[in-house]
Amino acid sequence: MAVKSICCIGAGYVGGPTMAVIAQKCPHIKVTVVDLNEKRIAAWNDVNTDNIPVYEPGLSEIVAEARGRNLFFSTEVDKAIAEADMIFISVNTPTKTYGVGKGMAADLKYIELCARQIARVAKTDKIVVEKSTLPVRTASAIKDILDHTGNGVQFQILSNPEFLAEGTAVADLLAPDRVLIGGDTTAEGQQAIQALVDIYANWVPKDRILTTNVWSSELSKLTANAFLAQRVSSINAMSELCEKTGADVNEVARAIGMDSRIGSKFLKSSVGFGGSCFQKDILNLVYIAKSYGLNEVADYWEQVIIMNDHQKRRFAKNIISTLYNTVSGKKIAFLGWAFKKDTNDTRESAAIYVADDLLSEQANISVYDPKVEEDQILFDLNYLETRADAENKKGITVEKDPYKACDGAHAIAILTEWDEFKDYDWQKIYDNMLKPAFVFDGRNLLDKATLEKIGFVYQSIGS
Ligand code: NAI
Repeated sequence: MAVKSICCIGAGYVGGPTMAVIAQKCPHIKVTVVDLNEKRIAAWNDVNTDNIPVYEPGLSEIVAEARGRNLFFSTEVDKAIAEADMIFISVNTPTKTYGVGKGMAADLKYIELCARQIARVAKTDKIVVEKSTLPVRTASAIKDILDHTGNGVQFQILSNPEFLAEGTAVADLLAPDRVLIGGDTTAEGQQAIQALVDIYANWVPKDRILTTNVWSSELSKLTANAFLAQRVSSINAMSELCEKTGADVNEVARAIGMDSRIGSKFLKSSVGFGGSCFQKDILNLVYIAKSYGLNEVADYWEQVIIMNDHQKRRFAKNIISTLYNTVSGKKIAFLGWAFKKDTNDTRESAAIYVADDLLSEQANISVYDPKVEEDQILFDLNYLETRADAENKKGITVEKDPYKACDGAHAIAILTEWDEFKDYDWQKIYDNMLKPAFVFDGRNLLDKATLEKIGFVYQSIGS
């Protein structure tokens, strides 16, 4: 079956970029991205594509090319479902904040709502694609809901997890390491898989399109994120040991990374990983393992999260102890708030937790991030519910100029590895700070020798 019309439910960091690239590469397919969030859809439809709600290098150009041709953003979910041959579900699957599995399991209420809406609206056969990251065996729950519509419509469920990384989403989508498609082993299941393979084959080489059964596909996404996060926690664990022993974590990373069995990627020590996925997906994996009574498996993976929390906390503690055991009333400048460079996404960013710890010690934090707005920063802090909104507002100032953020500060903390930070006039920044002027480089971004020559007291991670 050749797909002519696609609907994607969820216009977020995955749905938006993924569908924009499919639309660009498949001009013969109509792609409609729908969301309940009217503000988000309005932003996707903004005449100026620089105002689209997801910042990713190269994305606004692709949206400009395809939008209005075969790419549409809309809040009319029912209409888009009814029209589509293939429906991607790309809604959020956050960690549950209530009830059984609170703080661990994935909250599948948005997924179930989508399945019920598809079941209610569909009048023709549909292929339903899980794009969201889901616990293994979710497809059977979706199928259960869809198979009880009683209106004779046939559904095929595929799992097609997304492996893009924020900050490089467009490049990852244009040239993915692999595309993974899981489906039923029946003839109908295989036909559905082929329909999705045919879409990707418009730009992805065939040998990079893997097909598996549904459960392998669902579990592969959780496994990939667990392995990636584990590498970060592993190198971060070594960073603390490096600091005690005189070893340098950058040198250690280079030395082990040249071993082809280990590989050099994802070995950068930092203040800790953030983002909406790693923590959520590992907690979910831990929960699933526990639910099968696999306690050793669960404990093994949980340690990745424990290490990451420790890394964020010890970064804040080190700032406090270095600043003579008190930051009360002291101005500390944060360069960066996003969880990594080249994205405006702040979910689970290490900056939030470091700021929270410093605010508890009554620091005055002044933040500059090239892509994150003040409202978002306050929202992130309020979300932790550590203190009242008014107190967060009192403790945080958000600046649009990095030099102003650093003016009169006791210390600067680098929380995101934005390239522009490297090119600042550090002499000018130094001249306008209190002395001794400290830099805590949570991303090992700046050049130690240059900063020390200017006069900074410079501390990085793992050396
Ligand atoms: P997001 O929160 O940016 O976007 C989800 C969107 O779905 C929101 O705009 C929300 O309003 C909408 N939505 C929720 N329920 C809806 C409903 N019933 N009808 C219509 N719209 C609805 O989330 P994001 O980051 O795009 O993630 C989506 C999924 O993709 C998650 O499962 C995530 O784990 C996974 N993923 C995320 C990656 C990332 O880098 N952000 C990478 C790979 C996978």
